[in-house]
Amino acid sequence: MKHLLAAAAAVAALSAQAADVPLPYEAKARHVGVVNCASSLCHGSITEWKGSNVLQNEYVTWSRVDKHALRANQVLLNDQSKRIAKNLGLKQPAHEAKICVDCHGHNPPADQRGERFKASDGVSCEACHGPAENWIKSHVAPGATHQDNLKNGLYPTSDPVALAKLCLSCHFGNKDKFVTHRIMGAGHPRISFELDTFTQTQPAHFVVDEDWMKRKGSWDGIRLWAIGQALAAQEQLDVVLDPKRGRDGLFPELVVFDCHACHHPMSDTRWKPRVGTRPGTIRFNDANLLMLRQIVRRTFPAETGTFNDLVLSLHKAVAGEGGDALEAARKLRKGLDSVVDKLRTRAFDDADLRAILQGLIDDGLAGQYTDYAGAEQASMAIGSVLNFLAKRGAVRDVKAANASLDRLFVTVKDDEKYRHERFQQALAGLKTTVAR
Ligand code: HEC
Ligand code: HEC
Ligand code: HEC
Ligand code: HEC
Repeated sequence: MKHLLAAAAAVAALSAQAADVPLPYEAKARHVGVVNCASSLCHGSITEWKGSNVLQNEYVTWSRVDKHALRANQVLLNDQSKRIAKNLGLKQPAHEAKICVDCHGHNPPADQRGERFKASDGVSCEACHGPAENWIKSHVAPGATHQDNLKNGLYPTSDPVALAKLCLSCHFGNKDKFVTHRIMGAGHPRISFELDTFTQTQPAHFVVDEDWMKRKGSWDGIRLWAIGQALAAQEQLDVVLDPKRGRDGLFPELVVFDCHACHHPMSDTRWKPRVGTRPGTIRFNDANLLMLRQIVRRTFPAETGTFNDLVLSLHKAVAGEGGDALEAARKLRKGLDSVVDKLRTRAFDDADLRAILQGLIDDGLAGQYTDYAGAEQASMAIGSVLNFLAKRGAVRDVKAANASLDRLFVTVKDDEKYRHERFQQALAGLKTTVAR
């Protein structure tokens, strides 16, 4: 027992380190360029290699079907981007402007680009796996381990916290890059993200099998979902707490609020009472917090009361019902640190998945997801949980469950057409299917 605990502590210490490593664009080493990964003997094979640890066709997957490759960069040349750049009054065209290329490409400092680095490669291998200068040779040496590669500067994409930080750096933003409401006002689309769902749809160019786990540790999609929610909430609270990003003139930065609290016709009177909200006020976008409510309730039941109080204090302070909003944001952000720490080593079994699914459905039927953003996150979460239960053989009628899930997704497909009543109807249908 004692050495088991020691081993768990060692793993926790390792992943705590992993979360502190610089993001790929911050790392101090040379970025060699995609061309160095793309040979057919390396990661550019047309087919999967049978005897190899990795698929070896990662480049082909990325360049053909992954939107990070061509599309991320090329959209900067289209009319929508031209309009955004013009509306913002950018001095450079979008595909050359740092404010855009930081997310729609890989944009390390000029002195850290190798001879064959090409900016037009888009969100390239090294944008996620880190600059390869110090590991490109050693990672193929006989006997090289994952730990060796990490030591040489490979970014720890296998660690859920580090992974969430990486994806969110572009799919929400961080201290260095960020889609503000000003950029959205200029014509940038709304951004939505859920770590587990997006990891699947990227699509994945890796397979988590026994060999992967032996080399890299465990991979649990629900843990990924949960950690993704906690880190997304923290990033959002960081915006509130950042004196530079948190305000824009007289107003706070608007992207942390529910978009549709402002963006809907006046004749459409849709407000309904919900805990922590008042009519005629701008609501904090609590989609991630609503997901965390389920996660905390199931995984750390003793802390449910504290968590709910912290969220309620924030809602109340935002709506001007007492308390200081910045103080409430700071406390909640700090509280989430311990949630993330505990989630690192938490494994989720069938009973956990069922309880989380039930919680999501019940909260939805009780009217917690009246705002679109909450309904959207709940749908992705329900999709992920059902998927895992099905993979484990724990869903009796997979076909019926899929059909119900499709009906739920239809109700959140277009944020501008979202109607809470339709979402609830679809949810009630799903409840009866999965109860079978
Ligand atoms: C913080 C990162 C970030 C910044 C900064 C950013 N974007 Fe984006 N952008 C994204 C992400 C992520 C998406 C994809 C949203 C989705 O589909 O979920 C996107 C989507 C887009 C789209 C729609 C893409 C499509 O496939 O239709 C356009 C156009 C666009 N961005 C242009 C720009 C321009 C121009 C700038 C600079 C003014 C910019 N973006 C700055 C992250 C960013
Ligand atoms: C948007 C981020 C992203 C981009 C871009 C990306 N990867 Fe990955 N890659 C991942 C993630 C996430 C994993 C899974 C976690 C892990 O195995 O570390 C992964 C895993 C891998 C693996 C390991 C598979 C295993 O079984 O250990 C290889 C090899 C790989 N990627 C190669 C590439 C190559 C080559 C490119 C460019 C052509 C590329 N990746 C681009 C995110 C990315
Ligand atoms: C350097 C910035 C960057 C990083 C890091 C990044 N992405 Fe992206 N991602 C983008 C941009 C920009 C787009 C939009 C491409 C487009 O449609 O034009 C995008 C698109 C996507 C899409 C397609 C979305 C759609 O609407 O079809 C998925 C899925 C995705 N990313 C998943 C991930 C995951 C998972 C990670 C972390 C492993 C990640 N991304 C890391 C910038 C990034
Ligand atoms: C506090 C209210 C408020 C919130 C919250 C808000 N917006 Fe806005 N938004 C505005 C106002 C005001 C304008 C300017 C409208 C105008 O110029 O006519 C605007 C403009 C826009 C525009 C440009 C529309 C146009 O007329 O060209 C877009 C796109 C947009 N917002 C997207 C979003 C998104 C996405 C979110 C959520 C992440 C959001 N907004 C949250 C108030 C809000």
